[in-house]
Amino acid sequence: MPSVSGFDLSETDRLLTTTRAVRKRLDLTRPVDRDVVLECLGLATQAPTGGNRQPWRWLVIDDPETRAGLAELYRRSFGPYMDQQRAAVAAAGGDPENAIIGSSQYLADHLGEVPVLVVPCLLQRVEGMSPAELAGFYGSILPAVWSFMLALRTRGLGSAYTTLHLAYEKEAAALLGVPDTVTQVALIPVAHTSGAFKPADRKPVEDVVYWNGWGKR
Ligand SMILES: Cc1cc2nc3c(=O)[nH]c(=O)nc-3n(C[C@H](O)[C@H](O)[C@H](O)COP(=O)(O)O)c2cc1C
Repeated sequence: MPSVSGFDLSETDRLLTTTRAVRKRLDLTRPVDRDVVLECLGLATQAPTGGNRQPWRWLVIDDPETRAGLAELYRRSFGPYMDQQRAAVAAAGGDPENAIIGSSQYLADHLGEVPVLVVPCLLQRVEGMSPAELAGFYGSILPAVWSFMLALRTRGLGSAYTTLHLAYEKEAAALLGVPDTVTQVALIPVAHTSGAFKPADRKPVEDVVYWNGWGKR
């Protein structure tokens, strides 16, 4: 289905609707080539940043010991967070072992075995920023992170946006040699994947879009 822009919309729409948080289907046994990571980061860094400042560094970790260290920090944060999540789901009458919780637990248990972990970083500290500054700060890397995940998907690789290790950001900084002037933004596990991915259940767009003023449909 070519569009006026020349894009095949069925393919671009498939990419945009099926790039999921991949956890259980990450292939922990197949190495990931550094070249493909660099290629995807090259595409990602085409994303916009405020004033085109590109205020980022991308830490790619494929050394097993460092991955294990990051995974340990992630699990330290994940345990209490997941206890809360399970309790909240149970209190709401849901299944505390639902699919998302199960797959999150799997990722936490196996994070150190994921072949590549990417930590996107901003070259400034976040403390003390106003809401407007925060919007510009995180807005100057999150489009690129998503582009990275999309580029990976087109090449048969999967990823998941994660933030839980940031509860131990200082410890991660010590492990990675990150200067104290830098803010880590996320931790993206990267691996080959198998199988097909389906569009996610989301709220109907009509329910979340207002026209020309708050609440106007
Ligand atoms: C800001 C943000 C933080 C997230 N943090 C985590 C995390 O720490 N661990 C995790 O397993 N998933 C994390 N996720 C993934 C979400 O749980 C996931 O994207 C969501 O459940 C929707 O699933 P889907 O991406 O497959 O559609 C995070 C996603 C976002 C956008």
